Amino acid sequence: MTARLSCGVIGLGRLGFRHAETLAGRIGNAKLEAVSDPDQERLNLFTSRFPAVLGFSDYREVLNAKNIDAVVIASPTDTHHRITMEAIRAGKRVFCEKPLTLDAEEARGIVRETEKYHAFVQVGFMRRFDPGYTVAKTRLDAGEIGDPVFVRCISRDPAPPPLEFARASGGLIQDLCIHDMDLSRWLLKSEAVRVYARGGVLMCRELEEIGDMDHADILLNFAGGAFCTIEGSRNARYGYDVWTEIVGTRGALFIGELHHTPAVLMTENGSQRDLMPWFLDRFERAYFEEMRNFVDHVLQDKEPAVTARDGLQAILMATAAKKSLETGMPLALNTAIRRDGYGSTNER
Ligand SMILES: NC(=O)c1ccc[n+]([C@@H]2O[C@H](COP(=O)([O-])OP(=O)(O)OC[C@H]3O[C@@H](n4cnc5c(N)ncnc54)[C@H](O)[C@@H]3O)[C@@H](O)[C@H]2O)c1
Repeated sequence: MTARLSCGVIGLGRLGFRHAETLAGRIGNAKLEAVSDPDQERLNLFTSRFPAVLGFSDYREVLNAKNIDAVVIASPTDTHHRITMEAIRAGKRVFCEKPLTLDAEEARGIVRETEKYHAFVQVGFMRRFDPGYTVAKTRLDAGEIGDPVFVRCISRDPAPPPLEFARASGGLIQDLCIHDMDLSRWLLKSEAVRVYARGGVLMCRELEEIGDMDHADILLNFAGGAFCTIEGSRNARYGYDVWTEIVGTRGALFIGELHHTPAVLMTENGSQRDLMPWFLDRFERAYFEEMRNFVDHVLQDKEPAVTARDGLQAILMATAAKKSLETGMPLALNTAIRRDGYGSTNER
């Protein structure tokens, strides 16, 4: 493989556009060859800014291009399984946005295919690359707060997603809470064994029409003994509010930043600071670092930093949480990798 990774990006929406810009101009050892989106306006917007990049309305043109070694899949979630499977079979190195798929069977299929073809598949859990989370993880692993016993994760969006997006997303738990499911098992180095979830619509009535919700609380017990709670919400009208707290036997770690710019307005009426508006602002650095990590790991022939199995484990947790919510009952969850290697949810 050359010293520069030739890439293609599939899907130029809110996030794919950002990934494509990053690969086109911000990472020295990456070269963006082509992008794809059936939406001609998005395609034109990108290719007019980056005229050297080819634009295709059909993603298969990207997969068929012999000069492209790696693809970033940022199309709607309900297309991830199909496009990832085709990309693996086309011999591409794959970065797939989260969640890896809509259900566990599809995710197991990708894990099997990844192992069969010794393929490189990375999943877009970018919070692992955020400076706040990476510092916290380093300090946690160094034992600075002792053994972690409790993790609290809060993810509040300022507004619900567009209905068209929500329909294809798998819903609040699969789309949003899955970030914290991945974070909790990554931070705790343990798998969830019990889950209880409640949720519903508190504000965004339009989500009821498509069977989605705007608030969920998920309680998890981990095999190592730690507890975790996850709150997922679309109701933070004040801003984008994401934070995590880890309590250990000798201290605690807090990760989060609600303020946007480091400026404070002070008048006789008091002080005022602006709040984080959106995920692209809060996790700007994380999105950049995960792309850089993807490119470096492919070029250096290393394992992905976030694997297809990580994608599967998070989906098993999300699936069990959804089931608990439907039944109103706590569920035993066996996300431990089984002998056949693919994990399971053993609801009892
Ligand atoms: N990691 C994160 O923090 C994060 C944040 C946002 C979105 N995402 C994920 O990224 C994916 C895209 O989300 P988004 O917010 O950018 O959505 P979006 O709706 O803004 O964009 C999706 C784009 O994909 C295009 N598209 C549809 N079908 C396609 C196909 N077959 N081939 C190529 N392009 C196609 C659409 O025209 C659209 O431009 C979703 O899976 C979502 O869960 C991850």
